[in-house]
Amino acid sequence: MIRIEGGRPLRGTVRAAGSKNAALPAIMASLLTPEPVVLENIPHLLDVECALDLARALGKSVAWENSTAVLAGGKELAGEAPAELVGRMRASFLALGPVLARRGEAAMPLPGGCALGPRPVDLHLAGLRRLGAEFEVRGGTIFARARRLRGTTVYLDFPSVGATEQLLLAGALAQGETTVVNPAREPEVVDLGVLLTRMGAPVTWHEDRVTVRGRPELGGARHRVIPDRIEAGTYLLAGAITRGEVTVEGARPDHLDALLAKLLDAGAEVEAAEGSVSVRLRRRPEAVHVQTLPYPGFPTDLQPPIVAFLTTAQGRSTARETVFPARFSYVAALTRMGAQLQVSGDTLFADGVEALRGAPVEAPDIRAGAALVLAALAAEETTEIRGEEHLARGYEDLVGKLRTLGAEVCAAP
Ligand code: UD1
Repeated sequence: MIRIEGGRPLRGTVRAAGSKNAALPAIMASLLTPEPVVLENIPHLLDVECALDLARALGKSVAWENSTAVLAGGKELAGEAPAELVGRMRASFLALGPVLARRGEAAMPLPGGCALGPRPVDLHLAGLRRLGAEFEVRGGTIFARARRLRGTTVYLDFPSVGATEQLLLAGALAQGETTVVNPAREPEVVDLGVLLTRMGAPVTWHEDRVTVRGRPELGGARHRVIPDRIEAGTYLLAGAITRGEVTVEGARPDHLDALLAKLLDAGAEVEAAEGSVSVRLRRRPEAVHVQTLPYPGFPTDLQPPIVAFLTTAQGRSTARETVFPARFSYVAALTRMGAQLQVSGDTLFADGVEALRGAPVEAPDIRAGAALVLAALAAEETTEIRGEEHLARGYEDLVGKLRTLGAEVCAAP
């Protein structure tokens, strides 16, 4: 349990960790080669541990010290991923493309992950099918086969982050070029492209598509993953909701444009320099309207945190969720804390209140958990948040970093 005594303005500087969502596909990319892949800026998170466990289970040797992970070996990869690891985290499903490309066959249990409504993998499978894979589903496991993947053009109905990454990973070992039309352009996908290029499969971006040139074999590489824009955004919102001033060092302001625009609209002062972003807010924020969209639109992962912030704005804010239909799981908990929220279809209405109050609440997933932490930091009195394991999936040293900013927070049994 995390216990927070709220009502203190947060002030100071924290360092952005490496991006979780860039680290996970980078770890999966190491499956494409037996040569060493050295990944720097890898955050200490449960989801990263899970991805490294999966890499080990598939035959890689893994050394992880400080924030550098070295993945090597695995001349012969195992053909089947353990259901327990794939069930724990949806991103494990990204191992399918690399294992299939290396072995010509793969068995992959259907994925788990956050409770964010139905999160199908149909786009991953339809794309791999275009590259020549065949699938059969038996007992909750997908059995995939492809004698040799062949590059082609794949159109995505929706710019799915995971499906774009899956196709870049598989395409890197396919024969010829693989082009994804309507790809996801999240910085984490671009970062995977940088790593694949370093490993020998050049990835090039065009206005409406991305192409990877496949190679029969890939080499090792050294790569530093980008800073975590979602973590950075969460701390900036923590500064704003507590009417304080927070600087996130190591953050990329160009990855945070949508959030910073909304913070400015709300009345915050924003300072962005190369490698650092600061936000200051002294008064009650103005209501704003947010709509989640694929990048560079407002990130769905910051929707729960920004709604927490807007619960104390002046007037009625709205948040429309277009990426994940079931992402309002935190509403009941924030309501217990005094927020006035209503959901109608894909839109949430927040009528700002003067103040929130502490209550015992439970985090249903990573970003909903972050929303509860933000609300607790601003609330009068004490909030106890259960389900802290969700927070440990996505926030490195959350308690330590919040303390650095002056929060009164402790991890209690
Ligand atoms: C990734 C991120 C997650 C983020 C999301 C959107 C990782 C590990 N996770 O998740 O934090 O919230 O991007 O920015 O990087 N969909 C389908 N069929 C598919 C794939 C996706 O219908 O085959 C749907 C999903 O159900 C969802 C939407 O597309 O409604 C977005 O999913 P996607 O972009 O694939 O997100 P993830 O890669 O799962």
